Amino acid sequence: MRLPYFYQQVLGFLSVILVLLLITGLSLLRFSRTSALNDTEETLFAYGEALVEGNLKLEQLNYAQDLLDNQGIDLAIFDNEGERVYPLESTQPAPYLSEESKEQLRRGQRLSLTIQEQDLHGNERETALVYLPFFSQETSAYAGYVAVSAPVSWIDEEMQDLQSNLLYAFLFSSLGALVISLVFASYQVNRVNQLRKAAHQVTSGNFDIRLDHKERDEVDDLIEDFNTMVAALKDYNQEVARQEERRKDFMADAAHEMRTPLTTINGLLEGLEYDVIPEEQKHRSIKLMQKETRRLIRLVNENLDYENIRSNRIVLNKQEFQVKEVVESVTEQLRESAEESHNRLQVDVEEDVMVYADYDRFTQILVNLVRNAVQFTENGLIQVHAHVEEGNTVVTVSDNGIGMTEEQKTNMWERYYKADLSRTNKKYGESGLGMAIVQQLVRLHGASIHVDSKPNEGTSFTLTFPHQPLDTEE
Ligand SMILES: Nc1ncnc2c1ncn2[C@@H]1O[C@H](COP(=O)(O)OP(=O)(O)OP(=O)(O)O)[C@@H](O)[C@H]1O
Ligand SMILES: [Mg+2]
Repeated sequence: MRLPYFYQQVLGFLSVILVLLLITGLSLLRFSRTSALNDTEETLFAYGEALVEGNLKLEQLNYAQDLLDNQGIDLAIFDNEGERVYPLESTQPAPYLSEESKEQLRRGQRLSLTIQEQDLHGNERETALVYLPFFSQETSAYAGYVAVSAPVSWIDEEMQDLQSNLLYAFLFSSLGALVISLVFASYQVNRVNQLRKAAHQVTSGNFDIRLDHKERDEVDDLIEDFNTMVAALKDYNQEVARQEERRKDFMADAAHEMRTPLTTINGLLEGLEYDVIPEEQKHRSIKLMQKETRRLIRLVNENLDYENIRSNRIVLNKQEFQVKEVVESVTEQLRESAEESHNRLQVDVEEDVMVYADYDRFTQILVNLVRNAVQFTENGLIQVHAHVEEGNTVVTVSDNGIGMTEEQKTNMWERYYKADLSRTNKKYGESGLGMAIVQQLVRLHGASIHVDSKPNEGTSFTLTFPHQPLDTEE
């Protein structure tokens, strides 16, 4: 069954208030009746005591009875056998007393009870009765008891008055309770509705919405959580948008990068097909196509590699090894091309310099750095140096080539960034992926890379690899 929140709240508040009112009213009625009855009994006891203290003289008794008559109070005295001794002429039967009650009186205890009886007109009426024992002055022996009775029907009449007063009070309070419940309920429901509205806005793409709240109750906590959730959603949405932007850029860049070699290959193939390339140029054309194909393959591989490294999909197999060994093999690979640009390659690494890294990835980093140095230097000197500093392994690759401006230095890490198109017509590089890959690999190793460069003076890259942690064995 669907019961709107508003009514749930009203019902909740109202039922609590009504139950409270009902319990209070009933307790009040009960309490009033008991205390009225107690008061009557107390009065009756007081009369009885006065009689006993007055030694139960007959003329006194008559006088007292006359006085009490108009209050409906009856006096009676019984001897120790339970026989009525006053008033002797009474037509009323002596009230029945159980043996146990008589025994209690003999022991000096007072008794009080209420009984239902019929009056002269046959109407049911309730009477309060108290019994007080009295004792012989000479022997102190039990001599009998005084019975004082009074009708208590008036209490019920008063109770009826009280009841009707209470009923009015109950009705008025219920009305008040209803108004208060409506106010409270609409306040609570408004807060929930505010949240609902905000949630709808978020669904339709408004992530800037924030709800005001204090710190009063759980609903305020909920509003705060809602605000946090919307902020998180906004961040997430922006991240998704950024990723989408990157994906588009990547597609555009990759297409752009591939177009140049593909156009070259296509042109050469057409030339061969229509036999417009002279025989002596054919070999060179095929070599050129091979070079462009290799460039394409490298482009695809490096892109895949970059994506894998960037999204942490590769596992590093870290170990400790000699830096000198790697540096020598890298410079050996690149020596020929260095000589072609009339560059000198100089290695300055002590045998005992070790590094804690993934062997292949460390080699890849060095190949990229040294190849760039060779690529952007002519008739110069390329130096590779390594040493240990505060436990860390520091490797520097420096050249005295064309260098970079501040702007080039900051942009160099971006994928496909090439400072100057004229620089790309070299034997190596050309895809602009090298430094982006180096940066990701360095990050993955927990290492750092620093670049110093001045246009026309040269460039120097400094790698710092942290020393092997003592407590891990990889
Ligand atoms: N030692 C250097 N001296 C001068 N410029 C450099 C040096 N190293 C990098 N650069 C600049 O940073 C750019 C980015 O280098 P990166 O290695 O990422 O690309 P690339 O060498 O052009 O292509 P590849 O992906 O083949 O390495 C280079 O194009 C170049 O302009
Ligand atoms: Mg490069």
